[in-house]
Amino acid sequence: MTHDQSILTAKRDDAFGVYVHWPFCLSKCPYCDFNSHVRHTGIDEERYVRAFAAEIATTAARAPGRTVSTIFMGGGTPSLMKPETVGAILDTIGKHWNVAPDVEITLEANPTSVEATRFAGYRAAGVNRVSLGVQALDDASLKELGRLHTAQEALDAVKIARRAFERYSFDLIYARPRQTTAEWRAELERAIGEAAEHLSLYQLTIEQDTPFAALHAAGKLVIPDDDNARALYDLTQEITDARGLPAYEISNHARPGAECRHNLVYWRYHEYAGVGPGAHGRLVIDGKRHAISTERRPESWLMRVEAGGHGVIEDETLLTSEQADEFLLMGLRLAEGIDPKRFTALSGHSLDAARIAALGAEGFVEATSDGHLRVTRAGFPILDAVVADLAA
Ligand SMILES: C[S@@+](CC[C@H](N)C(=O)[O-])C[C@H]1O[C@@H](n2cnc3c(N)ncnc32)[C@H](O)[C@@H]1O
Ligand code: SF4
Repeated sequence: MTHDQSILTAKRDDAFGVYVHWPFCLSKCPYCDFNSHVRHTGIDEERYVRAFAAEIATTAARAPGRTVSTIFMGGGTPSLMKPETVGAILDTIGKHWNVAPDVEITLEANPTSVEATRFAGYRAAGVNRVSLGVQALDDASLKELGRLHTAQEALDAVKIARRAFERYSFDLIYARPRQTTAEWRAELERAIGEAAEHLSLYQLTIEQDTPFAALHAAGKLVIPDDDNARALYDLTQEITDARGLPAYEISNHARPGAECRHNLVYWRYHEYAGVGPGAHGRLVIDGKRHAISTERRPESWLMRVEAGGHGVIEDETLLTSEQADEFLLMGLRLAEGIDPKRFTALSGHSLDAARIAALGAEGFVEATSDGHLRVTRAGFPILDAVVADLAA
């Protein structure tokens, strides 16, 4: 066994996550480029349950013997699934892999589709954490974002989540058109008052080929310029730090110990399976790390799974240099940073000391007391450039 392989095999003892993608939404938000689809003809959930069962079985046969530490049902809008569908998918995962007694099972919910009875059903099915797409706490912004719910409905959904689940989080999008720091301060303070242990705070990104991209290009949607976006970002860090919800990742905030363990699987570059239309996975098979992705279009995915037991359309063995780049790209998003020794083990060479020194002199990266390398507060707004510099 080579040095690289022993490191990769050792990673098997680490956290193992399963991502389940539910690709349907009630309507398409104009800023969103996730793999989400609107179907007015109804969705045959039983047929999807059978397809998920088949793809989970095939995936588990390729990556047997793991103990699942986290499951994340993302979308799309997983809260459109019937609780029985969620329960059936979770049961199948438990049939094919061991599941850790303290497994974290998150379900993403859209406030439009939240009903108390459904949440109780998800809880009974095994879900123990929800992540709600609140997005904004004022109705004009929600309308502009194309959301189907009001701020009050979103807050009611948070209340239902609080009653049903021991852990919940919600998402807000900031750096919205015309948003001032004073408005964002008030909104964020209010959000923290409603949050328990975790918040995801995303800056509005104009994604290619979305209606927002077309409006933006036509000058009809104006978002804060770099200086204003930076001021909003800085304010976000100041308030969340002061209120005990510091960033543990560039857009994710938690009380210490309440981080989303599933997302940490990605950012710490552990192993995870992805099932469902357009899902991605990183599995270590025969000592090699595979980048795997499935067909995005739900109906095509269904047909592939029904014909061949899986919807995989890409399965690539990653070179050690590609793994090292991915490890940097993911790990440097975290406040805890990366262990340079793991980079060396993956890539076969150490990080460039001169580049680290130059980035350090500018205040963009720093070494921690436990020997990690991390991006500083000043470096996060230019994270892509820092990663590109270190990976080059
Ligand atoms: C898969 S989506 C969400 C869950 C659910 N479908 C919902 O919308 O309530 C995950 C999150 O990504 C964020 N997001 C999506 N597109 C974004 C964009 N263009 N800019 C910033 N955040 C975005 C939103 O906060 C969203 O809640
Ligand atoms: S933001 Fe959520 S609800 Fe809106 S289209 Fe994207 S996945 Fe669907």
